[in-house]
Amino acid sequence: MSAEPGPDPAPDRTPDRVGRARRLTGPEDTRALYDDWAADYDAELLGAKGYVGPVETAKVVAEALPDRTAALLDIGCGTGLVGAALAGHGFSAIDGVDLSPAMLERARAKGVYRRLFAGDLLAGLDLPDHAYDAAVGVGVFSVSHIAVPALDELLRLVRPGGRIVPCIRLGPGSGPGGGRDDGGGFLRRFEVLESAGRLRILARRRAPYMRPPSEQAAGDDCEILVLEPL
Ligand SMILES: C[S@@+](CC[C@H](N)C(=O)[O-])C[C@H]1O[C@@H](n2cnc3c(N)ncnc32)[C@H](O)[C@@H]1O
Repeated sequence: MSAEPGPDPAPDRTPDRVGRARRLTGPEDTRALYDDWAADYDAELLGAKGYVGPVETAKVVAEALPDRTAALLDIGCGTGLVGAALAGHGFSAIDGVDLSPAMLERARAKGVYRRLFAGDLLAGLDLPDHAYDAAVGVGVFSVSHIAVPALDELLRLVRPGGRIVPCIRLGPGSGPGGGRDDGGGFLRRFEVLESAGRLRILARRRAPYMRPPSEQAAGDDCEILVLEPL
């Protein structure tokens, strides 16, 4: 007599969306992940993950851009955590673009954006050259999100002499005591663009990105840059 198979172990229903976000295969996959994540994104990221990247980046934007009426584009704005932090510094003309309609809805509910629209930075946005004084992006400069070629689109959208403030997440465990990290190739690419005379790197700051409240986890760092398109 063959043994009856035992019950399957209870499946782990906690989705590892942060892990999945690092393995996306294209815009459809990205949109599907974030549409599904939108409703609990803020609670999960601001709670267990200790996500401080948006607040840290907004501080750098506020120092780099004294004019609070400057036209700002928040790329991959998601649920609007960056817009909310920027509004806290007094910025009043913040637009946001994102691939995911559900994330955009959450951003709209925060009431801090002048305009929100769907778009794919990799495919290019239907906007005139030099439409913005500045652009900011947090959580979006990642291999499976906008990828290095999208930097050309950003340089097209921001006027010469403006500011681009990318926040580049360094690898998992890059927090206090962690090792060095190349930021998925973005940091090197900014240096190449500077050598080619397309932008100037005005500042680079290493800052906390995720600081989970649990004491076991040291968290991740990021590097926030201030770039001037030439
Ligand atoms: C990790 S979330 C970050 C959201 C927000 N900036 C924050 O810090 O909370 C990444 C966001 O980028 C968006 N995204 C990814 N690839 C994109 C692309 N190519 N164009 C526009 N948005 C994109 C996703 O839909 C998602 O909302």
